[in-house]
Amino acid sequence: MSDLRLTHLRCEYLVDPLGLDERTPRLSWQLDSDRRGARQTAYRLLVSSSAERIARGEGDRWDSGRVLGDQTAHIAYAGVPLRSRENCFWCVEVWDETDASVRSASALWTMGLLEKTDWSAQWIAADPEIIRRDRNAVAPTLTASGTPAVFRREFSLSVAVKRATVYASARGLFELKLGGRRVGEDIFAPEWTDYDKRIHYRTYDVTALLAPGRNVLDAVLGDGWWSGYVGWQETRSRYGSLENSLLVQLEAELADGSHLTIGTDDAWQCATGPILHSDFMMGETYDARRTPTGWLPARVVAAPTAPLVAQRSEPVRITGELAPVSLNEIRPGVWIFDLGQNITGWVRLCVVAPAGTRVQLRHGERLNPDGTLYTENLRRAKATEVYICRGSAPGDVATSPRSGAAKRGEVAVSPVAGEEIFEPHFTFHGFQFVELTGLAGAPLPHAVTGCVIHSATPPAGHFECSHAGVNRLWLNGVWSQRDNFLSVPTDCPQRDERLGWMGDAQVFCRTASYNMDVAAFFSKWMIDVEDAQTPDGVFPDVAPRLREGDNFTGLGGLGGAAGWADAGIIIPYTLWRVYGDRRIIERHWTAMVKWVDWIERHNPSGLRVNELGNNYGDWLCLPSDTTFGTHSPMKNLLATACWADDATKLARLAREFGRRAEAQRFQAMFEKIRGAFQKEWLLPHGQLTVETQTAYLLALAFDLLPESVRARGAERLVDNIRVHGGHLSTGFIGISHLNPQLTLAGHADTAYRLLLRDDYPSWLYPVKHGATTIWERWNGWTHQDGFFNPQMNSFNHYSLGSVGEWLFRHVAGIELDPEKAGFQHFMLRPFPGAGLDFARATYRTLYGEVLSDWQRAGEKFKWTVRVPANTSARVFIPSESDTAVDADGLTVIGREGRFAVCEASAGRYTFTSTFRP
Ligand code: BGC
Repeated sequence: MSDLRLTHLRCEYLVDPLGLDERTPRLSWQLDSDRRGARQTAYRLLVSSSAERIARGEGDRWDSGRVLGDQTAHIAYAGVPLRSRENCFWCVEVWDETDASVRSASALWTMGLLEKTDWSAQWIAADPEIIRRDRNAVAPTLTASGTPAVFRREFSLSVAVKRATVYASARGLFELKLGGRRVGEDIFAPEWTDYDKRIHYRTYDVTALLAPGRNVLDAVLGDGWWSGYVGWQETRSRYGSLENSLLVQLEAELADGSHLTIGTDDAWQCATGPILHSDFMMGETYDARRTPTGWLPARVVAAPTAPLVAQRSEPVRITGELAPVSLNEIRPGVWIFDLGQNITGWVRLCVVAPAGTRVQLRHGERLNPDGTLYTENLRRAKATEVYICRGSAPGDVATSPRSGAAKRGEVAVSPVAGEEIFEPHFTFHGFQFVELTGLAGAPLPHAVTGCVIHSATPPAGHFECSHAGVNRLWLNGVWSQRDNFLSVPTDCPQRDERLGWMGDAQVFCRTASYNMDVAAFFSKWMIDVEDAQTPDGVFPDVAPRLREGDNFTGLGGLGGAAGWADAGIIIPYTLWRVYGDRRIIERHWTAMVKWVDWIERHNPSGLRVNELGNNYGDWLCLPSDTTFGTHSPMKNLLATACWADDATKLARLAREFGRRAEAQRFQAMFEKIRGAFQKEWLLPHGQLTVETQTAYLLALAFDLLPESVRARGAERLVDNIRVHGGHLSTGFIGISHLNPQLTLAGHADTAYRLLLRDDYPSWLYPVKHGATTIWERWNGWTHQDGFFNPQMNSFNHYSLGSVGEWLFRHVAGIELDPEKAGFQHFMLRPFPGAGLDFARATYRTLYGEVLSDWQRAGEKFKWTVRVPANTSARVFIPSESDTAVDADGLTVIGREGRFAVCEASAGRYTFTSTFRP
């Protein structure tokens, strides 16, 4: 038997996903072994209709037979055509290079409801009469959220259940319970899509929640993206309706062989419940004294015309809990808790107080100098919870443990201490500090727990080095990613915005892929991006698109801005590069081509100077220009450069996918843009007429300079940094290129100096001043001027944290092979720099975990790497040309610049050399 371990069995990048609607889902696994040269020579996939069959090794759905080769990812199911509701148990048998074999444990996916006719449930909404009959309830308006409706349906079962599944969707957000227990752990389901184009449904296995006898399905409906505040608009109801509606279909297979289906219909009852109102931006008010009464029949409402589709990415979950690091009573009865970390989520509140006590929680990212909560930068987001205590009653039974994240949404009353525990349902905040008021006495020591929520993308990478500030900088990027990857990649989680800004997402995408496995997350979001494309081909600036109409005034269409709309090319391209995903390209190819063709139609000269939309330019560069829709030579240069990059990427993809004519066409488009660029902006000796750091960076990154002056261009960039007193001045678009381009152009020393500065403006300036996330702008707070204008000053925007990419790619040196997509063959090429004594990174690729761990002591360089089983790497050992290299048994096949080059098969290696940074 082989010593290989088979791990990370994934279907469409997900762990045991339920309810897929991908008809040929792709499977992958990883091989684990420290044995040098360990690799797969063949595999056999088995897919079965039952756990018993897979245990017996019967592939009654699909038996791939023995397939020769080392492929372990993106293997598309090719068995019996998949039908709705099918259970697919699968495993893989792998042969290694010695022909020994090993079989994996089994994994699962299930199919969702593939046909419209699979749904017998009907969409239901509350009878508005429930609001009229309840004197404390309020109806929703365009400016205020209403009292959420609760729904219920009782039914009884005479026999035990073999298997039961719930399929559920909503226009709005649902929380479901069966027998008083929460269905699933997802938060904010169904997640955000353009509801005019598609609506998600979710699938849950509820077998364990049903029992013979009386059963109750309970649901509560919140507003969320569907009818609540989204963005900075002054009205709610983005998709044209204030009415939330619900679709639930419970299907059970019973022990006696019969089937039961319970779907939403007019047999369901509705009422108002304890939530008085709840909105993402505004917060939630919850009166724990209220229980639903006065049930009325629910109303059947028209089904949406948009199709129901399965969610294909990790759901939003609670992924962590934080206890405060300090508590301060700043004025009598006003308590400020500091979580020590800027998070996205909410507070789990624990109080003991008489019935009717109104406890108020306000959330903020920072404190004012006098210690009060700073909320000005939230703009119109009130971010306020009010919890009205129920008061403990004799005989109360605790219904949830205080720390039980799984029980979220419960109000629990402990009979012993009289504690009430509350978490909000349909709101979230971006905050580090919490202000608690309304209690007569001091809060309990455990009154406040920070619950961290985000799309539960699995962690992938970790970086650390000898500089504590840099470690915190990397961590701040990870936190801003956690805080903003909430269903879609948002700009910020705190103010009245929280939109899927495309520029921010493309700038950070590669960094994000090192921190976490974001393949499923971005694959889902690309659907939103394409859904938002205009029939002409214009990609949006934000996705999902905000429907424009009476209730929404956009910024002149929110589409087509250079560096933002281009995410429509950059995101799929990056997913292909990092994960080797070809389907993402095949699915979005037409949309990508349409975008570039649209640009060309409007810019026949090869300069992108027309139809620039809001034209954000190098957003928040220094000095910054935040006017919209204005023109400048720098904005024209940036737009032209981004277009050139689009053309290069499409040419490369077309070559890769065998589209020869298109490859030529896009290559010619690139050459034309490049020529026009040089004619317009290039002076002799690599000088540009627009002299900003970003202008040089884009020219270098996108190959827009003649080879003969590239080095001079890079020197001018370095000069520009010198002119800025050794400081960076780039905005969102330039920043991710800054240190990578400096490094590749032979100026790693400048890149390290920029990294290690902590005076304003620099990456470490916020870190020095206590930042726990990446700030939106370099000058969000400065010693000299205090807080920047609160109209646009978030302390949790990831774009400027895109230096994370460089930490992995160039400091640790874990880098893609320029010729091959995915990390099955990759490069290990660190650029150790002065100022760091060691750097260590791990990164779980789709093929296994890579390690790069180097130390410097004087001129002595020692480097340990791990090349995962079934992969190989070109290893570049930093070394002076005239010195000896210990390549740990590998053959040095040549030298490239200051590197000795080897080719490594799987295994662990330690190299030593002499190197002077
Ligand atoms: C957002 C940004 C976004 C920008 C467009 C801002 O309001 O917060 O991150 O990219 O607008 O310029």
